[in-house]
Amino acid sequence: LTEYPEKTIIQRPIVAAHRGVPSLSPENTMTSYRQAYDLGADLIETDVQKTKDGHLVIMHDYTVNRTTNGTGNVKDLTLDQIQQLDAGVKFGPEFQGEKVPTFKEYLQEFKDKEVVLLVELKAADIEQQVIDEIEEEGMADKVVIQSFNLDSVKNSKVIKPEIGTGYLYSSAVPATENAKLKKAQQMLLYGTSMNTSLNASYSSLYQEFITYMRQRGMLNMHWTYRNEEHLHQSLNAGIIGPITDYTQWLTKSPIML
Ligand code: G3P
Ligand code: CA
Repeated sequence: LTEYPEKTIIQRPIVAAHRGVPSLSPENTMTSYRQAYDLGADLIETDVQKTKDGHLVIMHDYTVNRTTNGTGNVKDLTLDQIQQLDAGVKFGPEFQGEKVPTFKEYLQEFKDKEVVLLVELKAADIEQQVIDEIEEEGMADKVVIQSFNLDSVKNSKVIKPEIGTGYLYSSAVPATENAKLKKAQQMLLYGTSMNTSLNASYSSLYQEFITYMRQRGMLNMHWTYRNEEHLHQSLNAGIIGPITDYTQWLTKSPIML
């Protein structure tokens, strides 16, 4: 092995900034994504939905109520109506004027930057449109698509096999321990055959799965870390990619060997 010139090895997990850095700035806004990038996130996570008039925008909830000064379902509002909303002021007055980004804006911002985009599909039947926009920007090799909807994951894989995919798995359903285990095992087998990772919630992780995924080089991204104790438990168990609201906990604290 080649020795590093100094006894300092920067070793830290692959950090996915969940909706930007919502512990410091309003979630799913361009300001928050830029902050994630500036803090050194490896991936920037986002949630994509479609407006009434067919445009892809970024919003976690199905309504605009919690994060903006408006009301209504994303799917019942036009792009123009959504762009009138303020997506920053509820977080703090210093963020007044922040807009709901379009998916295109988010792609274009990071097109030439060293970061991977972790794109969650929050609506059914948007796979083709999402992939078309990714391809228009020539970003198929910079994006991972994930969804709680297995059909969306499968469709994405069929449309563009080169794009990385992840199935968002939570043991909330089904309820029994055996059923959870069985479902997760099925998903791991599916993931191996389809080159899709199992992006489990941290509360749904099993040590065997972490080992299994690591051995197969699966980019397993686990979520959503908002508690340092849970985060460190999972890191000690060997997870590679925490998805977190607190990018600043990880990227600014390299482990010095
Ligand atoms: O990236 C995983 C995580 O975002 C899934 O949950 O509800 O925050 O979209 P949610
Ligand atoms: Ca998400």
